[in-house]
Amino acid sequence: MPFDFDSHIERRGTLSIKYDLARAGCPEGTLPLWVADMDFRTPPCVTEALEKQARHGIFGYSEPDDAYYAAVAGWFAKRFGWTPQKDWFVLSPGIVTALYIAVRGLTEEGDGVLVQQPVYYPFNHVVRDLGRKLVVNTLREDEDGRYAIDFADFEKQIQDHRVKLFILCSPHNPVARVWTETELRTLGDLCLKHGVTVFSDEIHADFVYPGHRHTIFSSLSDALAELTITATAPSKTFNLAGLQISNLFIPNEKLRLAFRREYTRFGLSQSGVMGLVACRAAYEGGAEWLDALLAYLGNNMDALEHWAARTDGVRFRRPEGTYLGWIDFRGTGKADGELDKLLKEKARVWLNLGGSFGTKEGAAANGGALPGSGHMRLNFACPKATLTEALARISSVTICHKL
Ligand SMILES: Cc1ncc(COP(=O)(O)O)c(C=O)c1O
Repeated sequence: MPFDFDSHIERRGTLSIKYDLARAGCPEGTLPLWVADMDFRTPPCVTEALEKQARHGIFGYSEPDDAYYAAVAGWFAKRFGWTPQKDWFVLSPGIVTALYIAVRGLTEEGDGVLVQQPVYYPFNHVVRDLGRKLVVNTLREDEDGRYAIDFADFEKQIQDHRVKLFILCSPHNPVARVWTETELRTLGDLCLKHGVTVFSDEIHADFVYPGHRHTIFSSLSDALAELTITATAPSKTFNLAGLQISNLFIPNEKLRLAFRREYTRFGLSQSGVMGLVACRAAYEGGAEWLDALLAYLGNNMDALEHWAARTDGVRFRRPEGTYLGWIDFRGTGKADGELDKLLKEKARVWLNLGGSFGTKEGAAANGGALPGSGHMRLNFACPKATLTEALARISSVTICHKL
């Protein structure tokens, strides 16, 4: 393989929040498989472009040029058959920042904002922090651990709670579904019917595995494009989260102006030059690296599947997308708090607690249990050796191997 994903790269002492073990009171030697960044180096083409910029040595105020727009649009055209136009672009330091801007700029206090729990926790926090009403359409898990959308409930929530904005996670973090075109069309029809604006967070779009295909929500029809903000970023794909760059596409001029107005009110102005340079280099030259990475992640999923199949008490359904494994620990009979403590303190493995992806609003519609409880999210974008060690440690404290 021309790219090295196997080597362990020391990240302690590099300002990494993933490796800030003290943050969660984890003992020395803990393996952090929680927050969604990868333990792999970004592709060489990105490092080279950043080195060149660093050697230039001037880091003045910067803005994207035509080559930047062409690189981003070219990526989406090639990989997804969708070409965003230059005047749809809005840059943001990150998608979470853009979420705060969108919720503030496009809704009023008290308006309903709809999410599908369990979901990436900032979706829940942004709605609450800004005094909007958090409305939950709970995802339903079948007996095989596959999650699906309850469309009747989706429509009911919109009608019952004056929903103005829907925050879509596509592909979905943490349940690792890649929504099918039919599912997305059904959601889109309901949003069109009720005039709901959609913030479609597609940051995980590049992590889609064989047998599945990511559809850009906004590409489904002109009518849907008119009510959608598409949020993308090179940060998950090429491990650039610390460079703070994301690209939003807003075809509807009114929406775009409302978003831009709020962006300015936030006090935000230009993007950082290193993020712009890295994004362009990645989209221009990173395809081969990404394809190799996807194959490597496929092998890590094999290892997870193999481990789960021979381990009592856990269930694991192979992700359709993302590099986040959603592991069902309910068979161990351990409560969430006990499991978390055991994993951190005894196994020395730091995962995300499933219940943190749900809220009390979601629990009310989920028989009292927080959506996601009983599960753990495991980031498998790490060298295979790290993953193998983490899985062995988990088995040693929670469960017995099948004979
Ligand atoms: C669905 C989703 N959206 C957004 C983000 C973070 O985006 P950003 O770093 O651009 O704020 C993440 C990170 O894990 C994510 O999973």
